[in-house]
Amino acid sequence: MAITIKEYSSAGKILRQKDLRQALYDAGEVLMKKVLVNLHGNEHKSRRSVESKILQPNFFRWYEKEVFSKTLQETIYPYLKEGKADLVDLAYRILLNLTADFSGVDRPKKTAEETGRLLNLLRTFGKAATLGQAKGDKKEIVKEIEDALDEFDRDFYKPSKKRRLKIIKNIDDGLTAKDDLPKDILTELLKNQDNLKLEDEFLMKETAFFLLAGAFTSIHTLTHSMHELFERFKSNPREEVTDNPLFLQKCIHESMRLHPSSPTAMRRPTCPFHLDNGEEMNEKDTIIVDLMSANRDESIFGNDAESHNPNRDLPKGVPPYGLSFGKGMHACIGLNLAAGALPKENSDSETHQYGIITLTAKKLIEFGASPDPDNPGIVDTSTIRNNWSSYPILFKN
Ligand code: HEM
Repeated sequence: MAITIKEYSSAGKILRQKDLRQALYDAGEVLMKKVLVNLHGNEHKSRRSVESKILQPNFFRWYEKEVFSKTLQETIYPYLKEGKADLVDLAYRILLNLTADFSGVDRPKKTAEETGRLLNLLRTFGKAATLGQAKGDKKEIVKEIEDALDEFDRDFYKPSKKRRLKIIKNIDDGLTAKDDLPKDILTELLKNQDNLKLEDEFLMKETAFFLLAGAFTSIHTLTHSMHELFERFKSNPREEVTDNPLFLQKCIHESMRLHPSSPTAMRRPTCPFHLDNGEEMNEKDTIIVDLMSANRDESIFGNDAESHNPNRDLPKGVPPYGLSFGKGMHACIGLNLAAGALPKENSDSETHQYGIITLTAKKLIEFGASPDPDNPGIVDTSTIRNNWSSYPILFKN
């Protein structure tokens, strides 16, 4: 039996249930079998607590200030010179570099060719997350993912791991200062191997998964957000957001609510489980949480729930991005990195932590980005995600 939950409150309740385990990625076990989002119980708890150590507010502040602005500038520059870009392609390049940084995947050559290779690998890894819904020969897709993992292992993971192990040893031997240790997930996992005892294959897959979890979601979120902003600029001045980045962040959160990058979550009972209506569900049953519908629930978000309104009033305790980052034990560990801290009445716009999507959007708007009137964007209608497959933009500055 499979049931679908569409109401906001029930959806949140299901996601917080400890007796329900992850069920969205069963088909993609070639990559996903032992990665964080697929673990349950204590195994999930101990892995998450190690990885959470790196993804803390001080990390996000350091990352935005020290790493992000440089990487962003480097990636956008060639497109600025050309005066145009495909936003989807640009988003891939910006956000892949960013997620590679915090995942712990080195790109020693830093060339466009090297980024292109990693991008292709990432696109193939993405197929593992959606293998359950894939059309065509699944065995062929699994083989393609295995080959991509081999290439990732040899050319990216092994050298990145080797470099980190050397630094860890040098620190232990007193030859290097502690500050030289990279701040990323792979380093954190390697430091904690005594407790975690992760086999190398799964350490490699966890690193690949982080790259995937951070990049794919953020890329499509950025493109949707820019589209919503361009629509808003038709009747509101750009200064409304360029002069007020805290309001820009609100616009981004509102777009995140409308376009959750994972439109559904899925869970399966670990023991007999009773729904609110008394119905019993068992290990073989599936509960689909329709995040897209929950985020447009009019009883929570009002009669205009379908529209982009960053000024909407929200009930107490409901975040502006709704359930787009999940809830409960699997709630997104990268939430603050992607969406930043929630703005408050007294937030200081100078020191506020905005998240990488708002900061990227801010830069693009400052450079005068606007849709190319002769080449409208194309929506990929082959999945229910309705992501943009192409979105040509021009830079006016
Ligand atoms: C706009 C960007 C993002 C969105 C919309 C998003 C969304 C989500 C959602 C809905 C979940 C919960 C899945 C479930 O309940 O089954 C999740 C989990 C997760 N996300 Fe994100 N995510 C984003 C960015 C990131 C980033 C930047 C990272 C990297 C640090 C990341 C890493 C993860 C991980 C590792 C999990 C699994 C957590 C666990 O199982 O304990 N995400 N994300």
